[in-house]
Amino acid sequence: MPTNTLNFDAPCPYCTSGIAYRHCHEPIIAAGVGRKIAVGQSLYARDWATNAEAYGRQGLYGALARDLAAGGGVIRVLDIGCGLGHGMAALADVLPAKERLIVGTDENPNCLVGAAERLGLDPAHPALRRLSIRRLPSDAYEVKIRSGPMPTLTDMALVQSDLMIDDLQLETWLDNTGAFDAVTLWFTGFHKARSLLKVIKQLEITGDADHRAEMENRVIDLGLRRLRVGGAIQIVTRGFGRDVEGLREEMRADWEAYLADKPFRIERFTAFPYEEAEGPGAIQLRSALVDVSDQPSLAWSMIFRRTA
Ligand SMILES: C[S@@+](CC[C@H](N)C(=O)[O-])C[C@H]1O[C@@H](n2cnc3c(N)ncnc32)[C@H](O)[C@@H]1O
Repeated sequence: MPTNTLNFDAPCPYCTSGIAYRHCHEPIIAAGVGRKIAVGQSLYARDWATNAEAYGRQGLYGALARDLAAGGGVIRVLDIGCGLGHGMAALADVLPAKERLIVGTDENPNCLVGAAERLGLDPAHPALRRLSIRRLPSDAYEVKIRSGPMPTLTDMALVQSDLMIDDLQLETWLDNTGAFDAVTLWFTGFHKARSLLKVIKQLEITGDADHRAEMENRVIDLGLRRLRVGGAIQIVTRGFGRDVEGLREEMRADWEAYLADKPFRIERFTAFPYEEAEGPGAIQLRSALVDVSDQPSLAWSMIFRRTA
């Protein structure tokens, strides 16, 4: 592991964010052995709050929730990577109060505590701390699942789970929970120490694009296990650009090819323009490698319908 003798104000040498090292990977490099994942998770939860609050103020979560609910028949939703619970709160606002069930999962315990506080759930429930992280002699960190109580089902529930780690206990709990009308994945992102995990090395994930693709693949697979026929997957992804129609066609062609052998059809791709949060206190999307400074930000809500 390199020592912490770098220029704190120069662009971070550990990634392509282009932001000052002190605001990027420095706290993780400086963290003690065995603490790096926890530090990465804690910083991510703190910084994501800035982005999520900005999205909330612009009404983005509400618009995405309404987009999912627009087709009707959405009562039970499984939200993957629920973060601080802003999406679950927006979904709760548009789903029928008496019947709804919204289950949120996230790998980050700090995000889950924030979500529990936002949603009025118990932040100390053991289901929010099911994953234990162990440093291996190879320097990689291994994620293990502790068995323990799962949440009692009311209208909302939170469970710590990493979509990239096989999780039999969660699958059994979901078997008993019943089929969902929708599975959502809104805004993928991951903390800066995640590359130290054994599973990330095994999956050969080297950056944002790989991580997003892996999450999307796994959400489609999850949809096959957990959605009723006729249910929907909603993936929300961020991009930059002015040519909305051109971008839509490009994305549609990519997804049509990907879904060709899967029982899903594309229902619609809707672009929601928004202002991204900038500055050291927020998670940066713009990269030093590609200049998109003059391009507007778009949140794409992509709805895929399960056909069989
Ligand atoms: C960009 S945030 C979005 C949070 C939330 N969906 C929202 O819209 O506010 C991405 C979230 O996905 C979580 N995440 C990343 N990889 C994950 C994985 N493999 N399994 C579960 N959660 C994951 C992160 O911890 C983070 O909270």
